[in-house]
Amino acid sequence: MSDSGCASCCRCCFSFILTSGLTALFMWLSLRTTNPICSIQDFYVPALNKTSNSQNTTTIYFNLKLDNPNKDKGIYYDTLNLTFYYAPNKTFPIANQSFSSFYQGHHKNAHRTETVATRGVPWKEVVAAENGSTVFRVDLVTAVRFKILAWKTKKHRLAVGADVEVNNSGEKANKKGIRLGSGAPERRCHRARLGLVVVVFTFLNLALFI
Ligand SMILES: *[C@@H]1O[C@H](CO)[C@@H](O)[C@H](O)[C@H]1NC(C)=O
Ligand SMILES: *[C@@H]1O[C@H](CO)[C@@H](O)[C@H](O)[C@H]1NC(C)=O
Ligand SMILES: *[C@@H]1O[C@H](CO)[C@@H](O)[C@H](O)[C@H]1NC(C)=O
Ligand SMILES: *[C@@H]1O[C@H](CO)[C@@H](O)[C@H](O)[C@H]1NC(C)=O
Ligand SMILES: *[C@@H]1O[C@H](CO)[C@@H](O)[C@H](O)[C@H]1NC(C)=O
Ligand SMILES: *[C@@H]1O[C@H](CO)[C@@H](O)[C@H](O)[C@H]1NC(C)=O
Ligand SMILES: *[C@@H]1O[C@H](CO)[C@@H](O)[C@H](O)[C@H]1NC(C)=O
Repeated sequence: MSDSGCASCCRCCFSFILTSGLTALFMWLSLRTTNPICSIQDFYVPALNKTSNSQNTTTIYFNLKLDNPNKDKGIYYDTLNLTFYYAPNKTFPIANQSFSSFYQGHHKNAHRTETVATRGVPWKEVVAAENGSTVFRVDLVTAVRFKILAWKTKKHRLAVGADVEVNNSGEKANKKGIRLGSGAPERRCHRARLGLVVVVFTFLNLALFI
C-alpha cells in the first residue's frame, strides 16, 4: 500500500514539476521582448546634389523610422537623441536632434523627419572631394520600457547607429532603409535566461509548498 502510495505521489509530483516547467516556459515566451527596429528611410544632403546650385545649403534632411516588432507589447520611448557625424571624423558631431518621448502600440511604426542645421563641416572640401559617395554616421540613443498588459518593464538603454552613404544626387545611395544596429553585444539574452531560471525556481518552490 505504501509502495503504490509513494509511486502515485511521485507521479503526481513529477507531473506537477513538468506542468510548472511548461508554464514557466510559456511565461518566459510571452514576457520576452524585442527591441524596436530603427532605420533611416531617407537622407538628403542638398550640398552634395551635383545637379543643383544649393551648394551653400548646409542642412541635412532625414526620415527616421521606428518599428515595434512585438506582437502584443507596447513600447515607451524616452527622449530620442540623434547625433550626426561626417564619417572620416567621428569625434566631432556635426549636428544633433532630439525628439520627445512617446508611446508606441504593438505592431505599430512611427516616422520622425527633420531638417537639421550642421556645424563644423568643411563643406567646400567635402563637395570637392565628393566622388560618388560621401559617408555620414547617424547615432541614436534613447531608453525604452515595454508595456506587457498593465505592467511596465524596467527602462533599458538603447544605443544604435549606422553609416549612411550619400551619392552624387545628395541622396542616400541605397534606396532601401538602413537599419541602425548596436555596436556592443546585447545583454538581453543573459537577462532572458536569468528570467527563465527565476520563473522555474519560483514554480519549484510553489510545488514544494503545496
Ligand atoms: C537635386 O537638384 C535638382 C535641381 O535643383 C532637383 O531637381 C533634384 O530634385 C535634387 N535632388 C533631390 C534628390 O532632391
Ligand atoms: C555661396 O556662397 C558664396 C560665398 O558665401 C557666394 O559667393 C556664392 O554666390 C553662393 N552661391 C550660391 C549658389 O548661393
Ligand atoms: C576631427 O576634427 C577636429 C576638429 O575639426 C580635428 O581637431 C581633428 O584632428 C579631426 N580628426 C580627424 C581624424 O580628422
Ligand atoms: C547638440 O545639442 C546640444 C544641446 O542642445 C548643443 O549644445 C550642441 O551644440 C549641439 N551640437 C551640435 C553639433 O549641433
Ligand atoms: C573617383 O572614383 C573612381 C572610381 O571609384 C576613381 O577611379 C577616381 O580616381 C576617383 N577620383 C577622385 C578624384 O578621387
Ligand atoms: C538625451 O539628451 C537630453 C538632453 O541633452 C538628456 O537630458 C538625456 O539624458 C539624453 N537621453 C539619453 C538616453 O541619453
Ligand atoms: C542616388 O541614389 C538614389 C537612390 O537612393 C537614386 O535614385 C539616384 O539616381 C542616385 N543618384 C546617382 C547620381 O547615382
